[in-house]
Amino acid sequence: MLQDIERYLACPHCAQQLALDGRTLRCPAGHSFDQAKQGYVSLLAGDAHTGTGDTAAMVAARGDFLTAGHYRPIAEALATAAGPTDGLVVDLGAGTGYYLAHVLEQVQGVGAALDISKYALRRAAKAHLRIGAVVCDAWRPLPLQDACADLVLNVFAPRNGPEIRRVLRPGGRLLLVSPTSRHLRELVAALGLLSVDEEKERRIDEKLSPWLDRTDRVEVEFRLSLSRADAAAVVAMGPNAWHTDPDALTAALAELPEPVEVTGSVQVTTYR
Ligand SMILES: C[S@@+](CC[C@H](N)C(=O)[O-])C[C@H]1O[C@@H](n2cnc3c(N)ncnc32)[C@H](O)[C@@H]1O
Ligand SMILES: [Zn+2]
Repeated sequence: MLQDIERYLACPHCAQQLALDGRTLRCPAGHSFDQAKQGYVSLLAGDAHTGTGDTAAMVAARGDFLTAGHYRPIAEALATAAGPTDGLVVDLGAGTGYYLAHVLEQVQGVGAALDISKYALRRAAKAHLRIGAVVCDAWRPLPLQDACADLVLNVFAPRNGPEIRRVLRPGGRLLLVSPTSRHLRELVAALGLLSVDEEKERRIDEKLSPWLDRTDRVEVEFRLSLSRADAAAVVAMGPNAWHTDPDALTAALAELPEPVEVTGSVQVTTYR
């Protein structure tokens, strides 16, 4: 609930502390933000545009796919890497809140689900009792106070090194999940999807290195056994949704064996 994370929030206009007054967050300078009836609050600065956020259709596809448990090994690896914490866990680009909820099952703390898509946050707000959901732009100053977070999660989502560094408390950690070049390789080949290049990990490290030190990296590889509908959901829930020709995709899906056996392959990297 928003009450759980209220004390960590910062006004997107003046950076002062926000406090709940009924269903409205207010700062001392008089800026105010109403909580939506679905539970999330938008702390977007006025001129922000939300074009890169997941659409309702992408969120629905991702929600169903994750609920079916296909990426459970990733959630388990994150929960293991998280270790004990009773403070704030921030999930930047949280989507439906699936991973944050899984981590909160293992720890005492509270969770802030940040995403630019209100469709995603409608779900995230309900994913766990101790989640507060906040619409914001990962490329702007995050509406969080300095040094407030024990952990930041970032799973297939935008990474803003300086802001992650600013919101982490001393000794706090970023747990970052990124796909390797082997991730979903059978579907990449059969459906002509966007592929992950082998340099991706190095580029992420390089971009974050002025702000955060890499301390650990584990590789998580697993098998997925997918129906054609699941394979279609993989396409619909990610960046391929913007890039794939629908007719060609329908034809390629019809050619897949059912179930189709697919490789899941990600890195879970810890930064301090
Ligand atoms: C590939 S999804 C991953 C979601 C979630 N971490 C998961 O793995 O289920 C990327 C997420 O980043 C969000 N996103 C895209 N651009 C963003 C931005 N500028 N600021 C915040 N979130 C953004 C999308 O709305 C989407 O929920
Ligand atoms: Zn303000």
